[in-house]
Amino acid sequence: MNLFAVKTSPVAASDYADEWQNLWGYLIGVSVFFTVAICAVIVFFAIKYRRRSDADRPEATKDGKLLEILGSVIPFVLVMIMFFWGAKLYFDARMPPKDAIEILVTGKQWMWKMQHPNGKREINDLHVPVGVPIRLTMTSEDVIHSFYLPDFRKKMDVVPGKYTQMWFHPREEGQYHLFCAEYCGSEHALMVGRLHVVSPAKYEEFLSSGGRGAMAEAAASDDPVVAGKAVWEANCVVCHSGPGGIGPNIHKAFGTMRELETGESILMDEAYVRNSIINPNDDIAKGYPAAMTSFKGQLSSTQINQVIAYLKSVSEADQ
Ligand code: CUA
Repeated sequence: MNLFAVKTSPVAASDYADEWQNLWGYLIGVSVFFTVAICAVIVFFAIKYRRRSDADRPEATKDGKLLEILGSVIPFVLVMIMFFWGAKLYFDARMPPKDAIEILVTGKQWMWKMQHPNGKREINDLHVPVGVPIRLTMTSEDVIHSFYLPDFRKKMDVVPGKYTQMWFHPREEGQYHLFCAEYCGSEHALMVGRLHVVSPAKYEEFLSSGGRGAMAEAAASDDPVVAGKAVWEANCVVCHSGPGGIGPNIHKAFGTMRELETGESILMDEAYVRNSIINPNDDIAKGYPAAMTSFKGQLSSTQINQVIAYLKSVSEADQ
């Protein structure tokens, strides 16, 4: 039960979130009570014991044993409640149950890549079944990001060269916010996604849609266009597939002239695509920030050739 839900707080989507919210309410309650009480007493004493004349002499003070004991014991009890309650929640948050479903998460400027146990991938969307604990094993390809599910009161840094973990236990179907909560570059604010909590049946359906790990299968295809499409969907599509994207829409543009920030134009050919993947800052597209990071070492030459083959195949320009 969530005793302290306030209008401004996100919904609480798990038992943990309820308890977190209750602890939060307790902390705020204790803080507000003592702030008001202490201020009131200061004002009251300031008036009651104000200096009236130079001749005033204070009475000798008496020992107030009871007052001293209460003044120590009450705060001690109040902060110990904070400590044990907080510690319990902390241990809860750090110890995923053994039966949790493990999903791999990779942060990258500026998107979230997810991979399910059967190999199925998705970007910026995360589907999970309701009523089952979910464990995320997370890492980053570039800088520090932070995976944040406000409705679950869970947040964890996502760090390059290191794996971090986070878990949550969704109890109701629905869509929930997913944010990057660590400033990670110019498009940090756009590094958002959606958590979809669905029924176990729908989750199974989702996992098997397009075949088991369809993208992994396609990536292994001998046909460069098929393999290139998988590379495109795993790496490029989020930023480069429509108006309003982080990067220019290049999906059907192979063979066309591209305008650059310098005012020059350049032909989108094989060399241009390859160089833009390896050295994205060489030719900045007009009207777009130099936001892309190099895919050197992340995409092999074969994969770059495959994505070029795919872009050629969907191009509408005369070649
Ligand atoms: Cu990734 Cu902010």
